[in-house]
Amino acid sequence: MSKIVADFFIRHALDQTRSTNDIARELAEMGAPEGMLVTARRQTAGRGRRGNAWESTEGNVFLSLVLRPQGSAQVAAQVSFVMANAVRELVAHRIPGVPIQLKWPNDVLCDGKKISGILLEAGAPSDGGIAWLIAGLGINVSTKPASRTDATALHYEGDTRSDADTVIADFCERFLSWYEKWQLDGFEAVRTAWLAHAHGLARPIQIRLPHEIIDAIFDGVDETGALLARLADGSLRKVTGGEVYFGSPG
Ligand code: BTN
Repeated sequence: MSKIVADFFIRHALDQTRSTNDIARELAEMGAPEGMLVTARRQTAGRGRRGNAWESTEGNVFLSLVLRPQGSAQVAAQVSFVMANAVRELVAHRIPGVPIQLKWPNDVLCDGKKISGILLEAGAPSDGGIAWLIAGLGINVSTKPASRTDATALHYEGDTRSDADTVIADFCERFLSWYEKWQLDGFEAVRTAWLAHAHGLARPIQIRLPHEIIDAIFDGVDETGALLARLADGSLRKVTGGEVYFGSPG
């Protein structure tokens, strides 16, 4: 690990915890600096997006990073693209030749199957900014959820040599490089790299909002990270929340 990377991350390695996001949040609220990295071999209550559970058996990567980016909550949400770029590179490096795609807002797919997910949680806003950001990351290294046929793991894709610790070290290098680029140069380079591997571009999507369902075509992401949905009348609608389903409705 380079000195710059070693200087940025402070690793708090646990054998087992409920959710590394919970521990990172507690540490952030107690004033932990940016770069505090909580890892666990197992989670007993790992969380995914939309209230889903994240199966967390030993052998995979479960980590949560405390970050303190400047700017609004919307700008901080760009960290999921920063993280996804780092994970995509990591996976592509380990299983060359297998198509790796990024699914809005933050899944990493390997030949169409999910290999990694990201869960961002932000601390209460202050002065328009956020107090802290927890970037939680799961990467399937040796096992995939038994309950899902649309998931995979590095070992299932041919990389049987990687283990959780080597993947974490690799992730730290790649994440810090993208994070520094984002902080210095802004979102554009992150967005361009993400779009180059985006899943479902120009294909149908369905966006389910609390009081509305929108069928549209996925037209990419804008300069802030919002999803661009092209409606039937040709107009573009920006989407920052809701549930987005890729593929034809029904
Ligand atoms: C998703 O795709 O739904 C997001 C999954 C995020 C899982 C990671 S594992 C480490 C961290 N701790 C959690 O409880 N969740 C995140």
